Amino acid sequence: MIKPTPIDEEIQIDPKRYLVSRTDKHGVIDFANDYFAEISGYSKEELIGKPHSLIRHPDMPKIIFKLMWDRIQKGENLLALIKNLAKDGRYYWVFTSFEPQRDTDTGEIFGYKASRKAAPKDAVEIIDALYKKLVALEKEGGMEASFEYLDKFLKEKDPNLEIQDLMENIHKFY
Ligand SMILES: Cc1cc2nc3c(=O)[nH]c(=O)nc-3n(C[C@H](O)[C@H](O)[C@H](O)COP(=O)(O)O)c2cc1C
Repeated sequence: MIKPTPIDEEIQIDPKRYLVSRTDKHGVIDFANDYFAEISGYSKEELIGKPHSLIRHPDMPKIIFKLMWDRIQKGENLLALIKNLAKDGRYYWVFTSFEPQRDTDTGEIFGYKASRKAAPKDAVEIIDALYKKLVALEKEGGMEASFEYLDKFLKEKDPNLEIQDLMENIHKFY
């Protein structure tokens, strides 16, 4: 998959609109709403059937996606601030709510849905600094190093704090 070269230019998200996508169990996109397609810069035809990592920005730490997958595969939701890469190389920050999709009869997870909205600038500043640190650690020591740092970072704030609590608290605060 040819990925765009990131450029240091931000796309502003309309605070009144949601960017929605859905995937199968493996993270392959099977639905995108109009606004998601518009902001990503890809047509729906280009998005559907592609792995969601198509819009992964290299500034995103691996550990965040690992924690996200661990939770949604267990049937839990997760709210996280995500920096995404558009087709033209620009970026956009979004508060993303990841949720499992269950079969109404069997309860079995058949896919996942993500709803995204504009992220407040102050929250982005806090999380951007944290993600930069995590990415730098991953370059040297892999996900073990970033996990260790994140764990300590959260425990120092509150011994029971987990990543989704931090994200949710930032969210509630603004
Ligand atoms: C419903 C759903 C939505 C997702 N949305 C995004 C997204 O907006 N941006 C992103 O980088 N990854 C998203 N992912 C995660 C990707 O599937 C992938 O794990 C991530 O981009 C990391 O890619 P990698 O595992 O190839 O490094 C989403 C996954 C699911 C299940």
